[in-house]
Amino acid sequence: MLAAYAARFSPDRPLDALEVGERPAPAAQEGWVSLPVVAAGLNHHDLWSLRGVGLRPEQLPMILGCDAVVRHPEEGEVVLLPVIPGTPGWTGDITLDPRRSLLSELHQGTLAEQVSVPEGSWVAKPDHLSAVEAAALSTAWLTAYRMLFRNADVRPGDLVLVQGAGGGVATALIQLASAAGLRVWVTSRDETKLERARELGAERGFEAGARLPEKVDAVLETVGAATWSHSVNVLRPGGTIVICGATSGDAPAKAELTKIFFRQLRVVGSTMGTKEELRALCSFVSTTGLRPRIDSTYPLTRAREALAKMESGELVGKIGITP
Ligand SMILES: NC(=O)c1ccc[n+]([C@@H]2O[C@H](COP(=O)([O-])OP(=O)(O)OC[C@H]3O[C@@H](n4cnc5c(N)ncnc54)[C@H](OP(=O)(O)O)[C@@H]3O)[C@@H](O)[C@H]2O)c1
Repeated sequence: MLAAYAARFSPDRPLDALEVGERPAPAAQEGWVSLPVVAAGLNHHDLWSLRGVGLRPEQLPMILGCDAVVRHPEEGEVVLLPVIPGTPGWTGDITLDPRRSLLSELHQGTLAEQVSVPEGSWVAKPDHLSAVEAAALSTAWLTAYRMLFRNADVRPGDLVLVQGAGGGVATALIQLASAAGLRVWVTSRDETKLERARELGAERGFEAGARLPEKVDAVLETVGAATWSHSVNVLRPGGTIVICGATSGDAPAKAELTKIFFRQLRVVGSTMGTKEELRALCSFVSTTGLRPRIDSTYPLTRAREALAKMESGELVGKIGITP
């Protein structure tokens, strides 16, 4: 089958590690089922994989991709939960299983004609969404849902800041938060992206690092080192930073420890979400009519162009892939 995969690692030029070509279809495995991919999507995770972050050489070649809508023979089109359990018998929150992984880490990913997943690790696709839109729910939107509604300790009417405007998680945060009645401010390095963010529901946009006219109740962080001090400085006393990623690096120039304890800030890590949260997310987008913002869609044969676009950062929303 056709697939886009990491054939090697290339820390500085991730696209040098990419191959788009034939890979064996997934082998049968007890308790797992192979399903045809209807639509997939890119995440920054795919670039990390090509750089060699989170993978070991013996796991190569590894098909990329976490997001997917797949076609189930009885249930029709369903949205995959890309979190795969690792500890035998684990019954708690899957994201807290110390041995859990994401599709494309230990098991082959979704940028392919077929993908194999544990039986039942999916939820029904919201009817009003296209397959490409619904695939965006798997990773970026699920992560944003948990950041906002489980970890940020905010309620309708509160003010949140989203660092970075254009990314998959950032656009999901803007759309979900504004639909839930939160006031959303956003930063970006790019004025055009701020304009797009306002179209998605943000109340105000600011240049990255700008002084804000008001302190915020929570900051939603995916950028990391480049925005860390700003995130700490703009929070009200007792406010919360929820962090799910560090695209610009995980070693900020200042850790800001004094400000964190003196102003009693909470720093909460957040990773992916559970099947129950994916189901609740699908219910939320169905009730509100929200549609994930899709930047562009590419056929799998052009996965290289799609990943180059993601690496350039010149995007607003998710990049869809159709096999
Ligand atoms: N923990 C989890 O479960 C989880 C799930 C999903 C994603 N993540 C992580 O979250 C991060 C975002 O993922 P994504 O898929 O949304 O990525 P993406 O689509 O490539 O988004 C990148 C974002 O970073 C912003 N950014 C701001 N300053 C930056 C800088 N100096 N360098 C690079 N980017 C900068 C961009 O904003 P502007 O261009 O507007 O400034 C853009 O919003 C990644 O690190 C990813 O690994 C984690």
